[in-house]
Amino acid sequence: MDIPGGPATANPVWVGSSELTMTPDGLRACIDAGAGAVVAKSVNESAAARRQLDIADYAFVSPGGEVRPPGVAQRGDGLLNRSGLAQPTLDEWLAMLAGAVAYGAARGCPVLGSITLGDPAAAARIGGAMAEVVPAVELNIGAPHGREASAVRQLTEADAVGAAVRAVRATVDVPLLVKLPGQASDVVALASAARSAGADGIGLVGRYPGFLPDLDGGAVLGSWGAWGSPACLPMSLYWVSKTRLALGPDVPLIGTNGARNAADVLRFLASGAGAVEIVTALWTDGPRVVAELVEGVLSYLDTRGLDLAGFVGSAVRRARGYPDIAPVRPPAWLRYSGPSGR
Ligand SMILES: Cc1cc2nc3c(=O)[nH]c(=O)nc-3n(C[C@H](O)[C@H](O)[C@H](O)COP(=O)(O)O)c2cc1C
Repeated sequence: MDIPGGPATANPVWVGSSELTMTPDGLRACIDAGAGAVVAKSVNESAAARRQLDIADYAFVSPGGEVRPPGVAQRGDGLLNRSGLAQPTLDEWLAMLAGAVAYGAARGCPVLGSITLGDPAAAARIGGAMAEVVPAVELNIGAPHGREASAVRQLTEADAVGAAVRAVRATVDVPLLVKLPGQASDVVALASAARSAGADGIGLVGRYPGFLPDLDGGAVLGSWGAWGSPACLPMSLYWVSKTRLALGPDVPLIGTNGARNAADVLRFLASGAGAVEIVTALWTDGPRVVAELVEGVLSYLDTRGLDLAGFVGSAVRRARGYPDIAPVRPPAWLRYSGPSGR
């Protein structure tokens, strides 16, 4: 999927926003790794959000529950972390972005700017300035850290989403992608509100709030945090597929949260996402994981003679609602055999 209304992308494996895309070196590494597009670390107007980066901490959790530091983390691990936003001034940040955009453009890889919502009017100001240097802007209104501190906000109601997106849309004259939280009662309604307010594409879905006692009397990280793991994948795909069903194939969707390998990316695509933003797999395996995912996705499509556009949403087209499922004969142990059993 190309950036809707913006530049072409070489493949659907994008690198999402995180500390790995916060420096010129980090951005270049993701571009050189062959990403379809790269989203820079988020900024906003809040000094508190910048200070929050000083208390960032990261704990990886194995599928068996072992907590390990970043250096020994493995691909299947979950990640519980605190995080803040990029610390340079806006002028410094835009100059840095301009360099990365030029480096990416010369290599066919669009570099997007990103804002994590604080105050909508400030996000609109920053978005307008950012649009002068980037080919597209991603607005994150779903950061789970918003539940812990007011430096960033997590919006979970359609009216608030519509108002924030309208404000930012008014100043951003390049494509605007809006990234939604996974933890809201009706994410499809948020997607619909964002689209009606002018979003060119919808990102689904942000990570979840998390908490993990360490069983030594305290908690991992010593606080609450943001959580993502491979087990989040079906939860992300639930909202991607339901949004695809509700809004139709003309609304570009960008998947995120839970993809660790090429099969996961393919599952996002089959659920209706036109591209997938990867982050945690780069923390465990480095930027080389991008090439592995791109190769895995393209060779899957190639060996089956499928084209990417046709594959997007393919699983949704074949999925049925509960009322349309034919009765199945339950296994013997589930069958009712009278009040006294047999
Ligand atoms: C350490 C860390 C920092 C992140 N920072 C941001 C951010 O500044 N802005 C944003 O929109 N998303 C941010 N994210 C969310 C990611 O862009 C991505 O959506 C999420 O990690 C799910 O993808 P994954 O399962 O591949 O990690 C961050 C994620 C992590 C793990």
